[in-house]
Amino acid sequence: METSRLSGFYRLSIAERQERLASRLSRPVEELRHTFSQGGLSLEAADALVENVVGLYGLPFALATNFLVNGGEVLVPMVVEEPSVVAAASNAARMARDGGGFRMEALSSLMVCQVQIFVDDLDQAMQRIRDRQEEILAMAAAADPVLVSVGGGPREIVLRPFHDELRGERFLVVHLVIDVGDAMGANTVNTMGETIAPRLAELTGGRVGLRILTNLADRRLVRGEVSMPPSSLSTGGFDGAQVAEGIVRASRFAELDPYRAATHNKGVMNGIDAVVIACGNDWRAVEAGVHAYAARSGVYRPVCTWRRDKEGMLIGRFEAPLAVGTVGGAMRVHELARLALSVIGAQHAGDLAMVAAAAGMANNLAALRALASEGIQEGHMRLHRRSEQTAT
Ligand code: MEV
Repeated sequence: METSRLSGFYRLSIAERQERLASRLSRPVEELRHTFSQGGLSLEAADALVENVVGLYGLPFALATNFLVNGGEVLVPMVVEEPSVVAAASNAARMARDGGGFRMEALSSLMVCQVQIFVDDLDQAMQRIRDRQEEILAMAAAADPVLVSVGGGPREIVLRPFHDELRGERFLVVHLVIDVGDAMGANTVNTMGETIAPRLAELTGGRVGLRILTNLADRRLVRGEVSMPPSSLSTGGFDGAQVAEGIVRASRFAELDPYRAATHNKGVMNGIDAVVIACGNDWRAVEAGVHAYAARSGVYRPVCTWRRDKEGMLIGRFEAPLAVGTVGGAMRVHELARLALSVIGAQHAGDLAMVAAAAGMANNLAALRALASEGIQEGHMRLHRRSEQTAT
């Protein structure tokens, strides 16, 4: 396993960085350069992807270094326009190495379709659906035999009754829980929902409402933990223990105040989105899921929190849903998305989700460390100045 600890990578020219990447991937550098020069997407492919295309839109594709995720050395592809995000992630990942890197877990690949049925007698409707649960699951499975053949498919039905007092109507929301395997799953989930909806209406004597996945993918959680000695955190005139305390205080601030939690989580999403975009995934879905999960208690909370243990080690914990895939979607046509996945070495959707979440934790750590010491502007502005100089 080649190390991701590429010290001085930022000092190399773009051509040299491309050479390092090509040799790491055992691919000819000319081929890699050709893919990068096209932005990974031809105009024809773009035209097939969305409507009314008139051109392509460029963003920097960068590599964050130093990541150790579940003991594996990972270079992290990041597509982002904000200066300092990549440097901050690399820097924090280097600190995290001192405690063995990021320990991540992707809990499952379950997505949920919501089928809304308007019906007056909710109890009777629920009983009728329960009686026919196996038939409904089989009907949904038949809508995607390929998914079933690779071990995925519908797993469970959960019933949620609602009484809308404002409109004076009742409806049942049928949650169809589906294991989507390595896909993000939106198409499969929506197709299955649309397939079973007429039968649900027939069984209950009700009327079909919406049929669509929920982006609150709370059955597709990623958890992460990272620890490091305070000595890894010292910066400028600030000693490590002082910075570690500042990070815990910053975490508590976000845990107690949704105004701060929004910005704290924005820092987490700096890392997550950059990886999700690099890998050609639907970052709006990921954003929606993470923020809805952050607010699940009724109060908006941080998805990454920080404490010190008895030995004084700084411990970071992350928990949020990340609905991402390594097959289907834009990956089919976007060469750079496929390249990004091979840089990560992601075999499964869970691998991508864990690396994206680790990047989110790293960006959160870097932001809190700066905020708890010299302030964000110092480092941030250095990098902004660099990008202004390059632009002029
Ligand atoms: C800026 O992109 C992100 C930060 O605002 C995050 C934070 O405040 O924790 C620095």
